[in-house]
Amino acid sequence: MITIIAGTNRKNSYSLKVANYYQQQLDKKGLGSEILSLEDLPDNFIVSDLYGARSEAFQPIQNRITATTKFIFIIPEYNGSFPGVLKILIDGCLFPDSFVGKKAALVGISSGKYGNIRGVEHFTGICHYLQLHILPIRIHIPYIKQEINDDITFHKEDTLKFTDQQIEAFIRF
Ligand SMILES: Cc1cc2nc3c(=O)[nH]c(=O)nc-3n(C[C@H](O)[C@H](O)[C@H](O)COP(=O)(O)O)c2cc1C
Repeated sequence: MITIIAGTNRKNSYSLKVANYYQQQLDKKGLGSEILSLEDLPDNFIVSDLYGARSEAFQPIQNRITATTKFIFIIPEYNGSFPGVLKILIDGCLFPDSFVGKKAALVGISSGKYGNIRGVEHFTGICHYLQLHILPIRIHIPYIKQEINDDITFHKEDTLKFTDQQIEAFIRF
């Protein structure tokens, strides 16, 4: 099972739009996937699901993560790194069942100039710690607000090309 994680709980996020784009592209290539938006985390997640606690609200999400063999993380740049809520998700998930020995592709996005190069690097370090194998092609999409339109498609040729190369490599990975 493939799960695309939109790595923020911000409403109307571009991360979720990009997650939808990746899902559409996988569909076109005949692969089903599910999207997990961090908006779907329980409101009280930091109390209800950390340090061994488990809520009824999060259990179905944990089950989806446990069943996932390949992840795509869409990771927005927040203060020069990845969002804290994404780390909280990782900390709240069961270890080692959630990520150890599995595979993931990483996509950084930002409204600014760098496409979350640093945040994707930080997140890669955590993935290595978790023994979550990372696809070597990592994508960075700066100026995201000018990149993706209301139809949820990229309109710059090189972004279309590089995301497609990443998706093809992810399928073979
Ligand atoms: C708390 C916060 C911090 C942010 N920090 C940065 C930043 O350091 N660099 C940057 O280019 N954009 C920054 N942004 C803008 C995001 O990159 C922008 O919202 C973009 O659309 C991707 O995030 P989204 O999925 O929340 O839409 C920040 C946004 C938030 C909410």
